[in-house]
Parts: sequence; C-alpha cells; structure tokens
Amino acid sequence: MFLNLLYDSFDFKSWIILFFLFLLLADIIKNRSPSNYPPGPWPLPFLGTVFTKMDFRSMNKLAEVYGNIFSLRVGSEKMVVVSGYKMVKEALVTHLDSFVERPHVPLFHKIYKGIGLTMSNGYRWRTHRKFGGLHLRLFGEEKKILENNIQQESVYLCDAFKAEKGPFNPMTILNGSVSNTVACLTFGQRFDYHDEYYQRILRLDNECVQIAGSYRAQLYNVCPWLLDYFPGPHQTMFSNYKEITGFLRGEIIKHKEDWDPLNPRDFIDNYLTEMEKKKSDPEAGFNIEALVISCLDMIEAGTETSASTLRWGLLFMIKYPEIQKKVQEEIDRVIGQSRQSCVADRADMPYTEAVIHEIQRFGDVVPLGFPKSSAKDTKLGEYFIPKGTSITTNLSSVLHDPNEWETPDTFNPGHFLNENGQFWKRDAFLPFSAGKRACLGEQLARQVIFLFFTSLLQRFTFSKCPGEELSLEGELWFTNVPCPYRMCVTSR
Ligand code: HEM
Repeated sequence: MFLNLLYDSFDFKSWIILFFLFLLLADIIKNRSPSNYPPGPWPLPFLGTVFTKMDFRSMNKLAEVYGNIFSLRVGSEKMVVVSGYKMVKEALVTHLDSFVERPHVPLFHKIYKGIGLTMSNGYRWRTHRKFGGLHLRLFGEEKKILENNIQQESVYLCDAFKAEKGPFNPMTILNGSVSNTVACLTFGQRFDYHDEYYQRILRLDNECVQIAGSYRAQLYNVCPWLLDYFPGPHQTMFSNYKEITGFLRGEIIKHKEDWDPLNPRDFIDNYLTEMEKKKSDPEAGFNIEALVISCLDMIEAGTETSASTLRWGLLFMIKYPEIQKKVQEEIDRVIGQSRQSCVADRADMPYTEAVIHEIQRFGDVVPLGFPKSSAKDTKLGEYFIPKGTSITTNLSSVLHDPNEWETPDTFNPGHFLNENGQFWKRDAFLPFSAGKRACLGEQLARQVIFLFFTSLLQRFTFSKCPGEELSLEGELWFTNVPCPYRMCVTSR
C-alpha cells in the first residue's frame, strides 16, 4: 500500500534523483574512513581525488598542506602518501612486515598479472625474491661474472661515444649499454647497439615507462572496465608490452632447446631448473608465464633507472665542470690511464663515490618508489592505516628532506664527505627504497653506475654545446628523467 502510494506520487525524474541519491549514500558509506585516518583533500563522489596528479611535485605540495602522512582516493581505492625521512623510515623499516604487499593497480595488473618478481605478493613473491636475489649474488658478486661483463660493456660504450661525430644525445647508447649488463645476466648475451630488433624492444619499453607516468594513462585505474574499449595511451602500453613479452617468450624457447641444468648460463636457465624443483609446490608459481614476467621485471627495473642515473650524471658534470675536473683528477691518481676501473677502486675514490651518491640523490630517479599496500592494520605516526590501503612512499621528499641535508636543493657532493674528505654514508640516502621490498638490483646498479661513470670520465671530457641551454628540470615519466639534451665529447 505504502509502496504503491510512493510509486504513484513519483514521476520518472524523481526516480532518477532518488536512484542517484541512493548511489551517493552507498558511495559515502563504502568509502567512509575509519577514525584517526590520515587527512587529505576532499574526494569527489564516485571519482575520489581523481583530478590530483600522481607525481612527486603534487605530492610535495599536498604534504605542505596536510602533513607527512595524508590520504587520497582514486576511484574507490584508498591511498596514503608518506613523506619525509622520519616517517618513510618508520613505514618501511620500523613496520618491516606492514607495507610489503603490492596493491592491485589495474594499469600494471593487466601486464604483470600479479606474478613474477616486482608485482607479486605473499608466498609467490617471497620465493621469487629469494630466487632472484640468489641468482644476482651467484652470477654477480660471487663469480665476478658481472664485473667482467660490465667492464667489457664499458669498452663498447666508450667506443660508441668515440664514434659519434659532433654533439649528440647519449640516451640511446646509454640505454643499450646498461640494458646489456642486465641482458648478460638474464639471457646470457649482449646485443649490438645497432641490433634493430633489440633496440626496438628497448624503445617500446622506454615508451611504456614514459606513458605509465602520464595522467591520461593513470585514468585507466579509475574505470578499467570502460577504458578497455576506448583508444588511448593505455592501449599503446598494452600493445608495446605484447611485443616485448613476445620477444621474451622467443628467448625462453631458444634457451629450452639447449638447456643443461648442470651448466646454467643465466637467469632463464636457472629459472627452468627451479621450475623442475618446484613442480610439487604450485603455490610458489614457478612457471613459463611467471618466467616471462620475471625477465620483464629484470629488464624494466634495471635499464631505465640506471641509464637515467647516468644521463643525470653526465648532465651534472657538464653543468659543474669544476666537479667533473676533480673526479677526473681522482681517476688519474687512483686508476691512471693504462687500466680499466674495477669495483675495488670504489674504496680508494671517496670524492667520486660522493659525486655518484649526489647524482642519485639530486637526480631522484624513482621519486615515488613503487606502490605498496598494507598487509595488516598499522599505526603509523599518530594515524591508523587499515589493512589493504595503498601506500606511496615519497622517496623524493626523503632525498630532499631539509632536516637531513645541509643544502637539499643544491647539487653538492659535500653531502657525502666528512671533514677529512672521507666518504660519509648518509641514512637518508634511500634512492633504492628500504625494507623488505627494497630494490633487488641495488648492488648491480651501483656497480654499473660506478664502472660506466669512471670509464667515461677516464676517457672523455663532457661539455655544453655552444648556444644550447641545459635544463636541470626533470621530465616526469614513471621515473624522473633529464630532459633530452645534446653534449660535446672531447677525448682526454
Ligand atoms: C639506479 C638504479 C635503480 C634504482 C634507483 C632502483 C630503485 C628501485 C626502487 C625505488 C624500487 C622499489 C622498492 C619498493 O617498492 O620499496 C625498486 C624495486 C626493484 N628493483 Fe630497482 N632500482 C635500480 C636498479 C635496478 C636493477 C639494476 C635491477 C635488477 C636488474 C633492479 C631490480 C628491482 C626489482 C626486481 C625490484 C622489485 C623488488 C620487489 O618487489 O621485491 N633495480 N628499485
């Protein structure tokens, strides 16, 4: 009777309004925050804080307003952003087991499917991380294979620089050479800088890293079910990854043909052996699909990051020729001109070590780290963060924290030197993040950067092209990369 009355007294428009009010109420109830949840900008109904750009500059501005722990909402996904050394350390180190999961980010899930090294969780991630770490240690540090490969690659790198006629942009050569150090570990071979197919794979991957940081591609995370049917940068990303994983599948097939478990040549061979061993443990997730994604993880996490660091490095050397000169003086004193640099030289080269650390601090290549989520309810600072909340650790705010660095916004190798000119390790130096999810390739990256950087400065002097301005402003991809620049290279 009451329902009939209601039905008769409502016209179509009123029903629409009622339906909308119902959806609005459901949205408010579904997304209501628990007490003591971090503050943040007011979210729009249904969409959340979708108009907030997810880059480190916007995050820094919001931290000034809401403090070092604040919240956002993308669609109905709750997200907390943590800034400054003290709070980031508390999140990653004090609460070691809290923020160790990766959240479900539709843009990445479509590609990584929650398997492999970087985007997996739980037991599957633990077994893959252990396996990946063991491989890097065995082939890298213990057998010295890695150091030899990097030294060999630095010869190709210097030759390629020497072969350039006139000013040039170092991006393609650096990407090729850095990716070869990872390729040696993963596929057991390097690729020529003129190998068109491999260079195309690197270009496609580069484009993906660039697109992944764009606002338009991130909109995909708000309504993937809809945008799957529309063109846009996300579709370019998906088709690029299809081609890249096709290449990786091809490499795996070739490896299977002459795989000898007693003589593993690289990551793929070791993974195939691990697949056999783990046959009775399907939960560990060692299978061909996860191998493809793990190979992608290695190439992707290892190439863009280290190559951009080196590009920043050369740019800073051009901007600050007096620092470049001091590095070259140390190289001449410790290594000389007749032999190649080796990892052991690091201990005798405090100034160069300080310059490389400052390049990483100021270059700030992975400003927001990789996304994480809370594995359990956690009290962070004075706030409550429920299980399942996405967490972004603003590593850029750590590397520029005014409480930790004497001159945070100036390129100053003195940050890493004590009063006796010895290298000074700083706690707030976290470009590789910290805690259980910290970068797996830190040691590899540090060796590549040191050996390439010293080889280049041993053989060349870098300078600005007459009439061309150089900018220290970065371009925001998923990573923070230098704007494209050209340089003049003179043999020493
Ligand atoms: C300068 C170079 C590099 C920088 C700045 C860097 C930085 C990072 C950062 C910030 C993370 C995220 C950590 C987190 O979630 O808290 C990460 C993760 C990772 N990195 Fe690196 N990285 C570099 C080079 C490499 C290299 C050379 C490799 C290996 C080939 C590598 C492999 C990985 C992997 C596998 C992860 C995921 C770890 C996990 O989820 O457990 N990275 N890296």
